[in-house]
Amino acid sequence: MDASVARQQQDKAAQVHDMFSAIAYRYDLLNRLLSLGIDRLWREQATTVAFEAGARRVLDVATGTADLALTLKRRQPGAEVVGLDFVTAMLDIGKSKAKRLGLDIRLEQGDGLNLPYEDASFDAVTIAYGLRNFADYQQGLREFYRVLKPGGRLVILEFPPPPQGVFGQLFRFYFLNVVPFIGGLLSGKRSAYTYLPGSVLKFPEPLELAHMLRAVGFDKVRYKLQTLGVSALHLGEKS
Ligand SMILES: C[S@@+](CC[C@H](N)C(=O)[O-])C[C@H]1O[C@@H](n2cnc3c(N)ncnc32)[C@H](O)[C@@H]1O
Repeated sequence: MDASVARQQQDKAAQVHDMFSAIAYRYDLLNRLLSLGIDRLWREQATTVAFEAGARRVLDVATGTADLALTLKRRQPGAEVVGLDFVTAMLDIGKSKAKRLGLDIRLEQGDGLNLPYEDASFDAVTIAYGLRNFADYQQGLREFYRVLKPGGRLVILEFPPPPQGVFGQLFRFYFLNVVPFIGGLLSGKRSAYTYLPGSVLKFPEPLELAHMLRAVGFDKVRYKLQTLGVSALHLGEKS
């Protein structure tokens, strides 16, 4: 790999790591507030899709404070749910929540670009609003593919670039102005909440992401827009 690309990737990973370490304590509150609570519904929908084919062992990558991992476990108490993230402060909050809720999930520190798991070891891999933060999207997708068993499925929740039209204009205003203002006010780290819309605007359109999934080997790739295109649920299967 070109040395300057490698440097850029290291810089992005370090920036993302420091940012989530700094805002971890406010992350859940701001998620609920800024999405008006709708983020819960998006995770519930991802959970339904993740379990559609009867998954027993699920890996939630970039699990953060474990909202999706806990939703998965609550839905299928018999499933083994593992959450992985590279920020300890986010995982610590997830661990407290799991304890409080009495939900037995495993939360581990690690890098989504170099997963510490064997090939073909999970029935489903999920990732909610994490891929956009990866320094290398393709490498992340290759790792998800590697750890999935044949027949396993990948479920991605991500914010696509905002839609066009009147709603898109309103949403852009909200995202580019209101989100950094409220996020900055409550977390004390405005840069994290200007990074958020910035990273969304740079993220591939759903069709392009679908193409990337196929390029690493996923089959039956499809996606569904959620809440007028504010979020998107992507699915790919390993045949
Ligand atoms: C926006 S949060 C999403 C957290 C959680 N999935 C949710 O739905 O609330 C993004 C998470 O990705 C994690 N992350 C980003 N890059 C990562 C990487 N290379 N390896 C592991 N975690 C990563 C961050 O630490 C952060 O917790």
